[in-house]
Amino acid sequence: MATTPQPSQSPLQRLDDWDDFLEGRYKEGKAESEFRQYDAKANPSVAEFYRVNHEKQTVAYVLDKEKQYFGLNRGQKSIWEAADYLNTLVDDSDPDTDLTQTEHLLQTSEAIRADGHPRWMVLTGFLHDLGKCLCLYGEPQWGVVGDTFPVGCAWSDEIVFPEYFRGNPDAHVPEYQSKYGIYEPNCGLENVHMSFGHDGYIAEIMKPYLRDEALYMLRFHSFYAWHRHGAYAHLMNDKDAAMLEWVRKFNPYDLYSKGHSKPDVKQLKPYYDELFAEFFPEKIAW
Ligand SMILES: [Fe+2]
Ligand SMILES: [Fe+2]
Repeated sequence: MATTPQPSQSPLQRLDDWDDFLEGRYKEGKAESEFRQYDAKANPSVAEFYRVNHEKQTVAYVLDKEKQYFGLNRGQKSIWEAADYLNTLVDDSDPDTDLTQTEHLLQTSEAIRADGHPRWMVLTGFLHDLGKCLCLYGEPQWGVVGDTFPVGCAWSDEIVFPEYFRGNPDAHVPEYQSKYGIYEPNCGLENVHMSFGHDGYIAEIMKPYLRDEALYMLRFHSFYAWHRHGAYAHLMNDKDAAMLEWVRKFNPYDLYSKGHSKPDVKQLKPYYDELFAEFFPEKIAW
């Protein structure tokens, strides 16, 4: 059974197209100067995706979505139930060759585990994209995936396709267009409203259970302008500076663990049963 986000608002054929674009953007071994050599002509559907994303992620939109979802009133689920639920999101093309969402999460967490990182980080790898269930709640793909960025202050040129912010109504609100906008200097990124997506949602869900390093990995994993390009230093506090290295440590596992062999869910299940039990009660609020 295929569940597709609203077609009129879905320039990407599959949500994974965005991940593929990211992987190409930050190809291993690519020089920093080459990162920005993507263009709308070569990636028309990705460009269209970002045009809509950049035009619609306004302060008002973000505050509205935070109100709608950050109260976690979508019921109680175990981690496995959340993963199974996400698996019902079937992308249109090649359902046979694509990995399930759970398999993709396991590739990330298993790569972290293979490198000997702590258990909380393995867990974070498994959790990081579970917020994509927003699609199943009916959120459009431009409001679920894609690079994230602060709203309510000037957009950085380091954000992908910055020219598309021209069409965002916030461009005409002077208060939102100054360097600090609605924020205080060095207020800390946790106090900044980020464009809405799967990152912020999963971080809210995990807040009571995980350490700050893990929460930063979850909340900011798509904030490439910050963790890759060093933008928004003027909003950072000391905690952000300390956490940045962890967000950076996590990023390669998100970008490059795809294409490794298909994980054997059945065989891995006992390890993850134990891991989940170590950090969570049976069910948590989503
Ligand atoms: Fe993600
Ligand atoms: Fe991911």
